Amino acid sequence: MLFRRKNINPDFEKRANALDEEPQFASDESVVTLSSETNTNAESEEKAVKQRAVDETRKQLEQDLEIKHYFHKKLLETLDLGLLSSLDEETAKKELHLAVQTLMNDDNHHPLSHEGRKRVLGQIEDEVFGLGPLEPLLKDSSVSDILVNGSKNVYVERRGKLERTPYTFLDDRHLRNIIDRIVSLVGRRIDEASPMVDARLQDGSRVNAIIPPLAIDGPSVSIRRFAVDRLTMDNLLELNSLSPQMSQFIKGAVKGEMNILISGGTGSGKTTTLNIFSGFIPEDQRIITIEDSAELQLQQPHVIRLETRPSNLEGKGEITQRELVKNSLRMRPDRIVVGEVRGSEAVDMLSAMNTGHDGSLATIHANTPRDALSRVENMFSMAGWNISTKNLRSQIASAIHLVVQMERQEDGKRRMVSIQEINGMEGEVITMSEIFRFERQGVDKQGNVIGEYKATGVVPECHSGLVKRGIDLPFELFNELKNNQG
Ligand SMILES: Nc1ncnc2c1ncn2[C@@H]1O[C@H](COP(=O)(O)OP(=O)(O)OP(=O)(O)O)[C@@H](O)[C@H]1O
Ligand SMILES: [Mg+2]
Repeated sequence: MLFRRKNINPDFEKRANALDEEPQFASDESVVTLSSETNTNAESEEKAVKQRAVDETRKQLEQDLEIKHYFHKKLLETLDLGLLSSLDEETAKKELHLAVQTLMNDDNHHPLSHEGRKRVLGQIEDEVFGLGPLEPLLKDSSVSDILVNGSKNVYVERRGKLERTPYTFLDDRHLRNIIDRIVSLVGRRIDEASPMVDARLQDGSRVNAIIPPLAIDGPSVSIRRFAVDRLTMDNLLELNSLSPQMSQFIKGAVKGEMNILISGGTGSGKTTTLNIFSGFIPEDQRIITIEDSAELQLQQPHVIRLETRPSNLEGKGEITQRELVKNSLRMRPDRIVVGEVRGSEAVDMLSAMNTGHDGSLATIHANTPRDALSRVENMFSMAGWNISTKNLRSQIASAIHLVVQMERQEDGKRRMVSIQEINGMEGEVITMSEIFRFERQGVDKQGNVIGEYKATGVVPECHSGLVKRGIDLPFELFNELKNNQG
């Protein structure tokens, strides 16, 4: 019998049940790196134990999946799911439970323990009312990304670490059904004619789905979660993503209305950092955020969130970031926060910064602070701005005060590798001075990057301006002799 479970070891069952409730296989502990040699063995032993637990849970879930599928199919034959959706959720769930229980009682080919029944019932409920195997992950607020690579590989990212989960789909068709459900929620379709779709879940999470023939190895889904526990500055300090001195300087700079550009590669933590920096804006200020897809979650009371709109199927109705930036200037903002500058909106943002809208924050996709400035320069040219290089650069130099560089390094950790101040121009070149940096010393045996956060000894020119605004940053912050392990 294909679906029959064999030799259920009670220990195994207990563990699987526990994992069902709280996925221990992916606890935060796995993120902690142990430094001393003696810990290394214990660490790899612990990893192996966790891996075994994940494997066993996966096996268990795969068996459950087949049983669940069997009962789900039976259910479709006996219960009118359309009717179910017309009921309120509680009554619908009761009806569903009743129907499944009757099916289970009448069935003697799929023996299930009491716990097993509960589990399968929960899974059927997720299947009928939610997004199937993705549902437990969507309920886990520590998961920031869910990545489905075909029906058998589901990965999640927690606190910046990618891990494979034991959750799987029965087959590609099952996965396609779930994708169809996601896109139909937003009135979209996915099929051979339009095989990639961007959608948004009810909680605001962003979903991208792409299916064969474009995705060669089966349907692929990437979900950027919205309702997750956002990292705070304290978390960043615990994670050693920057030093306390850097944090103190940034806090002062944001309060003191410096214009700050956060630069970094894909997934380097730009948006997270922007979110945290924005948190230092005083509560009595009016903040306007502009994003392509709203990710920022500011806690201040006076925030207006704007989001661009793509064109509709007829290619009409597009509203760009540039238009939103222009509009935001008519909304009496104290601060403008732009999720990511990518194009012509840079022109309006910079001219706003140069005409008294200080304290703006934005991210940009670049690998070094210098590179970030060249990107801004390119954005001006792309927007058809025709002024001399020198003129353009001096505009940039006077608009942006600080560039903060984020990096996702090969050990998977995000680090603030540089904070640079823009000082002005020397001939045709923008001059910058580094205030803090991450000085990399090497890589240990486990592949962890070793290094220190250092002040360069340069006191930023903005210091006196900040003091005048009542933000008194002690000179010791910039003392190069004080280092922090990274
Ligand atoms: N300092 C950090 N330490 C650990 N994890 C982090 C850190 N900063 C961000 N993350 C995690 O890294 C992932 C990517 O972060 P984020 O979205 O901020 O990056 P990004 O540079 O804006 O990415 P994108 O290029 O996609 O816009 C998220 O899961 C986030 O929770
Ligand atoms: Mg981002």
